Parts: sequence; structure tokens; C-alpha cells
Amino acid sequence: MALARELRAGIAAEVTALRDAGRRPPCLAVVLVGDNPASLSYIKGKRRACARAGIDSREHTLPADSSERAVLDQIDALNRDDGVDGILVQLPLPKGIRATTITEATDPAKDVDGLHTRNAGRLLAGLPGLRPCTPLGILEVLDRHRVPLEGARAVVVGRSTLVGKPVALLLLERHATVTICHSRTRDLAAVCRDADVLIACAGSPLLIRGDWIRPGAAVIDLGVNVVDGQQVGDVDFDEALGIASLITPSRGGVGPLTITMLLRNTLEAYEARCGIGRTA
Ligand code: GUN
Repeated sequence: MALARELRAGIAAEVTALRDAGRRPPCLAVVLVGDNPASLSYIKGKRRACARAGIDSREHTLPADSSERAVLDQIDALNRDDGVDGILVQLPLPKGIRATTITEATDPAKDVDGLHTRNAGRLLAGLPGLRPCTPLGILEVLDRHRVPLEGARAVVVGRSTLVGKPVALLLLERHATVTICHSRTRDLAAVCRDADVLIACAGSPLLIRGDWIRPGAAVIDLGVNVVDGQQVGDVDFDEALGIASLITPSRGGVGPLTITMLLRNTLEAYEARCGIGRTA
């Protein structure tokens, strides 16, 4: 996606400037527990993006049957390592390892996923902090397409900690009127039809049909579902095409922006840790 490429070039230029000034590059540590194929593929994308941006990346792979204690020990070592600026624990984690226990153990200053309650709480309070990458990527896409947010009716379908809840808060911060829907929402179709901005992050294949979309609405599809070996989104893309003013596809839509925002968060964490002020 052109937008992701452009933003990554800007990040790479900032990293080059740091190196030229004699500083070490930022460093991201990725922790993977087990060998979930989707996680392996995401990690490969992150590794490549870091390398292209000049950001160091390290991977720590633990066996799927690791104890929670073993993962916490790994996090503790990364927290204490001064050369590590960002820590990302790839989700989902195997059964028996609680994601919240792991994210709470991560140094909030290195929490490039924005999942620690300190960062989540700061988002809720309207204070600066590290924000989750996919919600940041969604805002970048909406801004690039000049989708008006102030006063707009935004509907978020999905209430996950990683996407639904934080994107709702970011949209609220931008003065949208936000409705969060989920599997128990009554007459979901009618709520969706009211949306100027529709964010689909329910993880439910082809849930949102063309006739749920208000003509001219901006639709962001975060769904990554596999049906009969094919990847489909939460939105029926073909039906949405002629109705929405903007529809992002399941493949190659917001995904590249998520990784881009991870690079940006790593750079921001680095700058904050090194005491370098951002001008932008
Ligand atoms: N798995 C799928 N998306 C994400 C993400 O944004 N962060 C982490 N840590 N794991 C994920």
C-alpha cells in the first residue's frame, strides 16, 4: 500500500538521521511462544519491515509448552536490557499463558503494542502514551482519504482490547460519535446502516453485507478469516465496492499500516527512552 510505503520511508529517514548522528538504532524484541503459522508469518513481515527501516530486531522463540513463569522471565530480561526499546509478545498465546499477565509484566515504556493498562489507561484519560498499532493504522488510512471524523457517526463492530475498544477511543478523541457493537447487539444491520465510518473488527467472515452500508460510508475491514481456503474479511468486499466511498480489503488493507505503526511506536519508545524530543 502506497501510504504504508510512504510512512515507512519517513521512519527510515529518521533512523538514518539518528545513525548519522552517531546514535545506536532503535531495537524491537519480538517474543513468540509456540509456532502458530499465522504468528510466524506476521513475525516474518515485522522482521523484514524492521530491517528495511534500519531498526534492529530480535526474536525470542519459546516452546509452545513453556510455563507462564518462563515467558515472564523472558519479559523481565528484555525489560532490564537497556539496548531493547520495544517489546512485542505475539498473540495469541498458548493455553495456560494469560495474555494480561504477560502484558502487565512488560515495561510500559517498551510496550509498543499499547496493551499495558498504563498505556490503555492513558488513552482512556486522553494522555500521551503508546497506542495499539492497528487502531493507529486505521486512523492513518481515514486521514489519508480525508474522511471527516468530527461529528461523524462511527460504528465499531467488535470490542477487542487490541482493536475495537482502542479504535473507538481514538475516534472519540477525534470528536466522532462512536457506537461499539458486538455479538449481542440488537439489530446490528440497522446500527451499521447509520454509520458514516464503519470499522469491522468482529472476526466474523462476511458478517457485513452491502445493504448494511450507508451509501458513501468509509468502511475499514480488519477481518482476517479463512473460508474454504480463501481469506475473507468481515465485510463482503464485492458488495461494499459500489456502495462505500472507501473500503479496505482484508488482504493488504490495514495490515501493512499495523506494521508501520509498530515501527513508529518502536521509534517513539526509543526516543522517549533516550530523551530525544519529537518535533512532529
Ligand atoms: N497478533 C495479531 N495482531 C497482533 C498485534 O497487533 N500485536 C500482537 N502482539 N499480536 C498480534
